[in-house]
Amino acid sequence: MSEIRTACADGILRIDFNRPEKKNAITAAMYQSLADALESAATDRSVRVVLFGSTSAIFTAGNDLGDFRSNPPRSGDTPVFRFLRALSLAEKPLVAAVPGPAVGIGTTMLLHCDFVIAAHGARFHMPFVDLALVPEAASSYLLPRLAGWQAAAEMLMLGTPVSAERAHAIGFVHKVVDPDALEPTAMEIAHKLAAKPPEALRLTKRLMKDGLREGVAAALAGEGKVFAERLGTPEAKEAFDAFFEKRKPDFSKFG
Ligand code: COA
Repeated sequence: MSEIRTACADGILRIDFNRPEKKNAITAAMYQSLADALESAATDRSVRVVLFGSTSAIFTAGNDLGDFRSNPPRSGDTPVFRFLRALSLAEKPLVAAVPGPAVGIGTTMLLHCDFVIAAHGARFHMPFVDLALVPEAASSYLLPRLAGWQAAAEMLMLGTPVSAERAHAIGFVHKVVDPDALEPTAMEIAHKLAAKPPEALRLTKRLMKDGLREGVAAALAGEGKVFAERLGTPEAKEAFDAFFEKRKPDFSKFG
C-alpha cells in the first residue's frame, strides 16, 4: 500500500502520510511522491486546494533517519529538495490537518501552509541541533520572523517541543480542535477555498509572499548546503547511532 496516499475530489487534492509502523518517517521514495503530487497539482486545473494529512494519529516523525544515513541527499535535484521547492513555490492554497506529533520537516513544512489545523495533543518539534543537523525548509528564515527570536531559538536551538496551543499562540497554527473535529474543520476550510475564484486566490497568495520569496529561496539553498554537509559529520553519526541504539547521544568528545 502506498506510503503517500493521494486522492482528488471536489477540487481538493488530499496528500496523506501512510507509514504508521514507522511513525510516517519520510523516505526518499516518499519525498518523490510528495514532490510529484505537488508539481502536478500546480498545473492541474482540477486541483484548487492541497490538503496534507495522515492516515494515523501521528503527522510525521520527519526524515527517515536510516534512509538519510544510507542515502544522504547530495544535490539540489534530490527528492527532498524537489519537495521543498514545490512546497515553497506552491501558488495554490495549502491546508494541513495535524493529528499528533509533527517532527522535523513535519513541522517545518507547515511554515509553508496557509492553514494549519491541529488536534489538541498535537506537538511540534524541530530537534535538528540534537541530531547535530541544522534547520531546513527555510525555517531558519521564516520562524524568527513569525515567532520572534526568543521562541524561534527555543524551538530551533534548544529543540523544545511546543504544544498545539502554544503553536497557535505563536501563529503557525490557525485553529486547535478536538481530535474528532480535525478532519471536518480542515475539510470545511478546504471546501471554502476550493469554491473561491482560483485566480484571485492565487494572486492573493502570490502578493502575500512577495516580500518573502527571495529570502526563502536563499535560505533553502543555504540551509540545504550546510544540512548535506552536516549529515557526513562525526557529530551526526553519533546522534544517528544513538537514535537507532535507543540510547542518549554523547557529544562530550566533540570540540
Ligand atoms: N526515522 C526512521 N525511523 C523512525 C523515525 C525516523 N525519523 N521515527 C520513528 N521511527 C521508527 C522507530 O525506529 C521505530 O521503529 P522500530 O519499531 O523498527 O524500532 C518505529 O518508528 C516506532 O517509533 P518509536 O520511537 O518506537 O515510536 P514512539 O511513539 O515511541 O515515538 C516519535 C514517536 C516520533 C516521538 C519518535 O519515534 C521520534 O522521536 N522519532 C525521531 C524523530 C526525529 O528525530 N526525526 C528527524 C527530524 S530531522
